[in-house]
Amino acid sequence: MPDIPSERVYKVGEKITLYLEDCLSGIRKYLKQEEVDVVVTSPPYNIGIRYNSHYDNMPREQYLEWLEKVSVEIKRVLKNDGSFFLNIGGKPSDPWIPFDVAQKLRKHFVLQNVIHWVKSIAIEKSSVGKYPGISGDVAVGHYKPIRGKRFLHDNHEYIFHFTKTGRVELDRLAIGVPYQDKSNIGRWKSAKQDKRCRGNTWFIPYETIWDREKQRPHPSTFPVALPEMCIKLHGVERTKLVLDPFMGIGTTAIACLKLDVNAVGFEIDEEYMKKAIERLQSFKNF
Ligand SMILES: C[S@@+](CC[C@H](N)C(=O)[O-])C[C@H]1O[C@@H](n2cnc3c(N)ncnc32)[C@H](O)[C@@H]1O
Repeated sequence: MPDIPSERVYKVGEKITLYLEDCLSGIRKYLKQEEVDVVVTSPPYNIGIRYNSHYDNMPREQYLEWLEKVSVEIKRVLKNDGSFFLNIGGKPSDPWIPFDVAQKLRKHFVLQNVIHWVKSIAIEKSSVGKYPGISGDVAVGHYKPIRGKRFLHDNHEYIFHFTKTGRVELDRLAIGVPYQDKSNIGRWKSAKQDKRCRGNTWFIPYETIWDREKQRPHPSTFPVALPEMCIKLHGVERTKLVLDPFMGIGTTAIACLKLDVNAVGFEIDEEYMKKAIERLQSFKNF
């Protein structure tokens, strides 16, 4: 395991800076007004997850007020044409959490897009008809099974795309998908190439975990593709700095290494921080 330097700041190459520090004090201390282009983050959901250092069972109002305070700091450091992607879910017995959070942030940001992160989906051949490439029923992706008869398996989470104005232009084709019907290309003014906007349902499966003990150093990560798609959607060219205030084991920072953009991350737990450094170093040396 790598050592954390005594000053609690760790750099991976020139572009990635990680702080072992509370994000609220950290953002205030280290980030200037309007210097961040993109924030991609997944905060604790307050659903009783057993993190090493964070208590994930606060009274609801206390939790919402805390996230609001963090978001006010995010607003301060976000550029006027920046994007704040907030990934959040709930639990079957408490599905209001994402909506309560969005409602709390409503007075600070415009909710420009609501993206559905689909982790698993089943598509019956009979409902797609004569689609090329789909020869039978499809059931793909992973999810946490829910026991009992009351609730469906929870196969999706939200990614709220908040902006300051609601008018931030996006690079939709950077994460576009090929047209199914190629005759669309050239037919419409906007369809100049074999790519269309994928819409707001993003199928991003978790990587398959074969050995839980060995491969789950953190209880609630998102896949690298999630921050990668958010940053691409905002536009890699114009992204100079990405922030993840709740960095966990550094998934957003890995996406930034892949895309060659600068990133700052905060995490309060030393073990997660060490794992983040380890992941980033092995990615860098790959
Ligand atoms: C949902 S996880 C994020 C996981 C991350 N997206 C990943 O893929 O690794 C939330 C993280 O926030 C951290 N955390 C909780 N309170 C924090 C705070 N005040 N400042 C910084 N990090 C905090 C927790 O330790 C946890 O690792």
